Amino acid sequence: MAQQPTSAPAGDSASPQKREHWSGQTAFILAAIGSAVGLGNIWRFPGEAYENGGGAFMVPYLIALLTAGIPILFLENAIGHRFRGSAPLAMRRVHRNAEGVGWFHVAICFVIGLYYTAVIAWSLSYFWFSFGLDYADDPAGFFFNDYLQLGSDVTLSAQIVPSVALPLILVWALTIGILALGIHKGVERLNVVGIPLLVVTFGILAFRALSLPGASDGIEALFTPDFSVLTDPEVWIAAYGQVFFSLSLAYGVMITYASYRRRRSNVTGPALVVAFGNSSFSLLAGLAVFATLGFLAQTQGVGVDELENITGVSLSFVTFPAVIAQMPGGQFFGALFFASLVLAGLTSLISVIQTISAAFQDKFGWNPRIAAVAVGLVSAVLSVLGFSTASGLYLLDTVDQWSNQLGIVAGAVGMIAAALWFGRRGHELERHLAAVSTIRPGRYWPVLINVIALLLIYMFVSKAVSLAIDGYGGYPTWYVVVFGWGTILFIGAAGVLMPWLRWHKDIAHPTLWPSREQLGLPAEVGAKVTEQYRPGKDTP
Ligand code: PFF
Repeated sequence: MAQQPTSAPAGDSASPQKREHWSGQTAFILAAIGSAVGLGNIWRFPGEAYENGGGAFMVPYLIALLTAGIPILFLENAIGHRFRGSAPLAMRRVHRNAEGVGWFHVAICFVIGLYYTAVIAWSLSYFWFSFGLDYADDPAGFFFNDYLQLGSDVTLSAQIVPSVALPLILVWALTIGILALGIHKGVERLNVVGIPLLVVTFGILAFRALSLPGASDGIEALFTPDFSVLTDPEVWIAAYGQVFFSLSLAYGVMITYASYRRRRSNVTGPALVVAFGNSSFSLLAGLAVFATLGFLAQTQGVGVDELENITGVSLSFVTFPAVIAQMPGGQFFGALFFASLVLAGLTSLISVIQTISAAFQDKFGWNPRIAAVAVGLVSAVLSVLGFSTASGLYLLDTVDQWSNQLGIVAGAVGMIAAALWFGRRGHELERHLAAVSTIRPGRYWPVLINVIALLLIYMFVSKAVSLAIDGYGGYPTWYVVVFGWGTILFIGAAGVLMPWLRWHKDIAHPTLWPSREQLGLPAEVGAKVTEQYRPGKDTP
């Protein structure tokens, strides 16, 4: 073979412009951490850990991180980096019938974006309320009645609540503005500023929390291990679910973000930084939240185990405001807490909407600005109509349960099936990672992913059966059918229907680098080979 230029080929893309790029490795790491670190770390991790064995939960959590979190994070990075596309484009290149898996991911992002914004909007309002401690007298009454104006019936309300709708519109305007600036000037800048700022705000908060009287009782409650839970499959499912949600896996986000990396990029090393950075943040949040709960228990003269509302929405919007009202310097503490929620939420939200926008750019050739505005406006209207009404919280709870507990598990299995079982790309992706990265995934990596897929199938079936038989949260059956199963139907329909629409140009023959021959594999029919890959020299 003739010696050819040794530089990597320019980024190819299905859109008319050249594919956008991160300015460097640090920018990518910060953006990926921005996606991973979110509401899931601050309010979900501490509660899950506490309810599933306390200190003993660290065992399934760490095993889930090492056996599923990191291997799937590698897989998504490998797919995005090798096939250089949004989820539908990359999956289409993985296997010609797998485009639908990508649209399935995109549709989940669309659904999540609608309500994730609502929680950020509440946090923004509460940031503001913290200065006047508006919620101090009766935090629960203030949140559910005064602020959300939640109706008592689980039904669909058309009554828009302005106190929620206004910040919600603001969050959407901000999101559209940032995305319209593009990857480099918008998404990257938000994360490069936002993530260090988040570490500072949350770091101060954690420091303050740990110095509160009673803090050690709270931490003891969180970490007192109950090893009997290790035989309970539910606890293991909770650990795997937490790791997936927290690392934004199986949403197409990491595929999309990896597609903006330059070809000559170390892929596995930064992925490990993202995984461990994210878990460290979760641990810090666990300490801060439970230290604060220890203080609350002490002021009420009860044990931490007697406290109510210490997970999810109620933890952040009822229990924390109650603590803030009672502590010296509460305003400052409250402002820091809600500012942290806004920052953590916004950097995750941006990744979700970018995943949708990138898919439309690739498929229809829209430029980033048009895609951001179109996707953002449609989402904003639906989000305001669905989630700023008097029934918004019920809808949020239901849609979240189905999309996150069922949808992503199916999305993960679909991705693995397309890449490893039908596309038979396991070896190629492993070679790709080994060729461009400092840390090699090893021969057993694809094997491990196959095992995870079996576990995921078990998780999917057990969750689907329990939702079908027991329903959810005591909601009426019609409600669960329309908004729970309806959500799954919508996501599935996107996966089936979108591939029928035409690509704006031929995307089936990407320039792969390193090429399959360069990786020591048989050539693929129709693939272009551009240049030499020099093992050792071209490895970053
Ligand atoms: N990883 C985020 C969190 O822990 O809050 C949530 C999230 C972001 C989920 C982006 C999915 C996603 F695509």
